[in-house]
Amino acid sequence: MAESKTLHDAFIDELRDTYSAEKQVLKALPKMVKAASSPDLKAAFSNHLEETREQVVRLEEVFASLNEKVRAKHCDGMAGIIEEGKSMMEEDFDETAMDASLIAGAQRVEHYEMAAYGTLVAWARVMGHTQAADLLEQTLDEEKAADEKLTTLAEGGINQDAASVAHPDGDNEDADEDDDDEPAKPVMKAAAKKKPAGRR
Ligand SMILES: [Fe+2]
Ligand SMILES: [Fe+2]
Repeated sequence: MAESKTLHDAFIDELRDTYSAEKQVLKALPKMVKAASSPDLKAAFSNHLEETREQVVRLEEVFASLNEKVRAKHCDGMAGIIEEGKSMMEEDFDETAMDASLIAGAQRVEHYEMAAYGTLVAWARVMGHTQAADLLEQTLDEEKAADEKLTTLAEGGINQDAASVAHPDGDNEDADEDDDDEPAKPVMKAAAKKKPAGRR
């Protein structure tokens, strides 16, 4: 009878999956640099592209530290996230909406990577693969920093710029519910907005 695979096998499998994920990100990032309009966002993507190159090399070092051949196993999860990003980039968004959407897509990538590396670090530590754990943790920290940088850019102006294009002069249809000049709302929508029964 074949022996069951162990956590070590799952760990190697996960490493191969993550190696594939990083290589996919390496291909996608230059397109995101091109698609971005904000110079800060372009710089953030370029910077993370350089980091990603190093992360690929770091994963190769992890394989070496475990006496494993460097091998990729196609990461379907990352492929899906990148596919969604591609469709988004084909949309005819204004520049500001495109930048905000690029951040949204990039943060999906970073969170997926944070989940992968979080697990890899924990498994490497619990199995005593200290060198691998230390290397993987460096990358985990970079992914977290990249994610935080994107949040800072989004909240530091990019979302606001996009919102100002979507709602010039701060017009916001939800803000003036008592306005008599408001066009009639469809019945379903109006009903959904009604205050809860019992409050008169
Ligand atoms: Fe990465
Ligand atoms: Fe990343």
